[in-house]
Amino acid sequence: HNFNEENVKEYLKSILFCYTIVADWGGINMDKKTIKDIDLKNKRVLVRCDFNVPMDENQNITDNTRIVAALPTIKYLLENNCAIILCSHLGRPKGEFKPEFSLKPVAKELSKLLGKEVIMANDVIGEDAKTKAANLKNGEIMLLENVRFHREETDNDPEFAKKLASYADIFVDDAFGTAHRAHASNVGVAAYLPAVAGFLIEKELKFLGNAVSNPVRPFMAILGGAKVSDKIGVIDSLLDKVDTLMIGGGMAYTFFKAQGYEVGNSICELDKLDLAKEAMEKAKAKGVKLMLPVDTRVGKEYKPDTESKTVKCTEIPADWEGFDIGEETIKLYSEELRKAKTVVWNGPLGLFEFDQFAKGTNAIAKVLSEIDATTIIGGGDSAAAVRKAGLEDKMTHISTGGGASLEFLEGKTLPGIACLLDK
Ligand code: 3PG
Repeated sequence: HNFNEENVKEYLKSILFCYTIVADWGGINMDKKTIKDIDLKNKRVLVRCDFNVPMDENQNITDNTRIVAALPTIKYLLENNCAIILCSHLGRPKGEFKPEFSLKPVAKELSKLLGKEVIMANDVIGEDAKTKAANLKNGEIMLLENVRFHREETDNDPEFAKKLASYADIFVDDAFGTAHRAHASNVGVAAYLPAVAGFLIEKELKFLGNAVSNPVRPFMAILGGAKVSDKIGVIDSLLDKVDTLMIGGGMAYTFFKAQGYEVGNSICELDKLDLAKEAMEKAKAKGVKLMLPVDTRVGKEYKPDTESKTVKCTEIPADWEGFDIGEETIKLYSEELRKAKTVVWNGPLGLFEFDQFAKGTNAIAKVLSEIDATTIIGGGDSAAAVRKAGLEDKMTHISTGGGASLEFLEGKTLPGIACLLDK
């Protein structure tokens, strides 16, 4: 009513305030400083990576994706003549030094990828690491040992964080896969150093963030995996956003049971039937198309070569176990996906580790590789399935975070992101 300058200013401020609340509520604050927003020239930089890579029993790295994903940030720091101190966890050694959790194979792999020496420290905050960090020259790289060799890491102990921070002038967090943890090396250190995001975190936030906050529609999600309890948060959150939600994997059987069908020996969470019912009711109330499998591939036993057959989901025989979606479901889901403009996929649709039960997961991966849509693959098993199918180059984005991408899609605030400097 009173259109003077002061009122306009107040009005704009309140719009901004509302926007900030909405963005925070959704856990989506992507306005973080990155390595491009800070003067790094000739600085000592502590970089938290997620080098938690799979290894075989001889400590050979079986998938180096997370190491490759850290390269753009490391190369940028090298271009800026920084002294680079990398750190990460590997597995869950529970605060003890255990050689099988050593990051030495990672230093070797990184050195191979960069074509440059990566100095390996024998400890994290001990004499060896301290000496090597103190002697590190600009343009050189070192890697500390597994930060989880100290219980203080997972306890987010301030003294431990301070010691890590003492190696550097700036902290760069590029460990998206660890962003859902509030640990000393990704959150604690931010209290002692200017903390900014690396390129990997920036990229993950861009793709995952845009997919959920600003999707081109139709926006569809495919959720698989064994348990409803693992995914209920993300089901609930995505039901507020998607046009279609497709369910597969072990958790589909809890949905069938919730509708009164027998599921034989299939994995089923009897204490989660109410959650499944609530999700179905919410979908109906919101006008979201919730798709459940119509047929399923069942097996006699949990064995790769077990006898198997396809049955309707309403007719699962008593002593058989559901391991995959069936042909009819593949057809229905594929037809629906061909209409999508944005797709988020988290969790395999069957027991894809066994070839005869990987058909559903592979078929859906293939459709996603063909459609004209933005395709975002949550990390963990769905990323592994896409890689196993050789289709990784055909997806828009494959997240390096398993738990982290799931929590992000749930709309939770990730502590490893929240602690970074706002732009
Ligand atoms: C992951 O692999 O999901 C991350 O590296 C986090 O590992 P964590 O579950 O052991 O914390």
